[in-house]
Amino acid sequence: MPAFKSVDHVGITVKSLEVSVPWWSYFLEAEPFWQATWLAADIDDYVGHIVGYENCDMTCAFWELPGGTVLEMLEYHNPGPGRVDMESYNAGNTHLCLETEDIYRDYERLQGRAEFRSPEPVRCAWGKYKGNMACYLRDPDGVSIELIQFVGQPRPFQEQSPFANPYA
Ligand SMILES: [Fe+2]
Repeated sequence: MPAFKSVDHVGITVKSLEVSVPWWSYFLEAEPFWQATWLAADIDDYVGHIVGYENCDMTCAFWELPGGTVLEMLEYHNPGPGRVDMESYNAGNTHLCLETEDIYRDYERLQGRAEFRSPEPVRCAWGKYKGNMACYLRDPDGVSIELIQFVGQPRPFQEQSPFANPYA
C-alpha cells in the first residue's frame, strides 16, 4: 500500500493574485471557486504554525483541476514574497502538467499571454510518451507549466497510476 491516499491540492506561491487570478482563470478557462485571506491575528496564526513563519498573513485562490484535485494559489503578505530563479533546470523547480485535447488551440489562445518555450508543440520522439505532443510555458511569475496531448493512444501512465476516486 502506498503511504498516502490522494493528491488533495497542488500549491503555487505567486507575487500578486491581482495578476495571477485573471491569468490562471483565462488559462484554465475557469474562475476560482474560493478566494480568502488568512490573517494571523484572526486565526490564531495556525497557518503560520503550519508553514513555519510567525504572524503569517496570506490570501489564496482555489481552482478545480481536471482529474480530481485542486490548485491552491498563495500570495504571502507577511512575510512578503521574494523571488527565486524560476528556470526549470534549477533544483527545487517544479512543474504542473495538464492534459489538453488541442494543444495547437492552446498555442493560439495563449499567444502574447504566456511565454512558450518552443515556437510550436513538440512531438515526443521516445519513451512512454512517444507520439504525443507536448510543450512548456511559463505563467507571469515564471512557473513552469507543461501541456500534453495524447495522440491516438490513451494516457501512457494510466496503468501505473490510474486516475481513480479514492472515495468511490
Ligand atoms: Fe513533465
